[in-house]
Amino acid sequence: MMNRFKFVKRILPLLAMLMLLLTGCGDPNLSALHPRGPVAREQLDLIILSLGIMIFVLVVVFAIYFYVLIRFRKRKGDDSIPEQVEGNHILEIIWTVVPIILLLIIAVPTVQYTFKHATDYRKDKDAVHIQVIAHQFWWQFKYGDYEINTAQEIYIPVKKTISFDINSGDVNHAFWVPSLGGKIDANPGDGSVNHLYLEADEPGIYLGECAELCGASHALMNFKVKAVTQAEFDAWIQKMKAPLAQVPAEAAAGESVFKNNCLSCHAIESNGGGFGPNLNGFANRIKVAGVLDHNDANLTAWIKDPNAVKPGTLMPIVQDKETGKPLDDAKIADLVKYLNTFK
Ligand code: CUA
Repeated sequence: MMNRFKFVKRILPLLAMLMLLLTGCGDPNLSALHPRGPVAREQLDLIILSLGIMIFVLVVVFAIYFYVLIRFRKRKGDDSIPEQVEGNHILEIIWTVVPIILLLIIAVPTVQYTFKHATDYRKDKDAVHIQVIAHQFWWQFKYGDYEINTAQEIYIPVKKTISFDINSGDVNHAFWVPSLGGKIDANPGDGSVNHLYLEADEPGIYLGECAELCGASHALMNFKVKAVTQAEFDAWIQKMKAPLAQVPAEAAAGESVFKNNCLSCHAIESNGGGFGPNLNGFANRIKVAGVLDHNDANLTAWIKDPNAVKPGTLMPIVQDKETGKPLDDAKIADLVKYLNTFK
């Protein structure tokens, strides 16, 4: 008995540390346990309710189990047969009715919220409508009402319903912004568009992830939701829709490199489409390729060898149209200067 106690005492700090480690890890803006909007909050309430009831059942069942185990254990010299109690109607009614009541307590709000979260806001004039198209391994966002086609970062106004139409341009992906709610599959095919609505309480940057194994860089297929005030959102729309700014002289060389080698895949007009992400506003994006900190060194590394950053990416090592060889360092440096003008 003493030995066992010592063992538990020894392992306790390890368990406590493990608990701290496992619960403490992760970004609070990438956690369903830190809801930042009504949908995520309601979903967390359901998790807590179900978990609470499950823990209650666990505690009660184990308390009875251990009580019976100790109270009715076989004692020395006692060989009598215990009283046989099968077919006890009162007990049978109790252990049938109590679980039914517990399941009802879980089921009623679960069904209620399931229907609520499936509300269709596609025709709602007050909602912001965003079309999401998942690609290996990036996200395309179209604001049809504003004729904006962008990538990797979603701007949304706070305290407004955001209605998402979600599907995929290639394989199965899944759209998930844990701190705002979700998730939902992004499947290929025009006929398989899924709908989801979310809302953010406060301005902030909320992280989104692809939640369906979709290839070598699935784990790198993330995006950001930038929740801003309505005024900032309107200003962003204006900026995105404004004609492209005059290219400064020091970026002119980069502009021609871009036009020769990149423009066939990457549009820079706000509503332009293409095989790769639209780059309007690129200089303001938090990350390069969704994963690298946004600075010149990382942007250079990405252009030089995209596959080293994102295995399986369809972005190639660009072959210079003029030389037929990969872009040299000088041209990549020019390109970086030019891309930095997309503010
Ligand atoms: Cu896209 Cu995983």
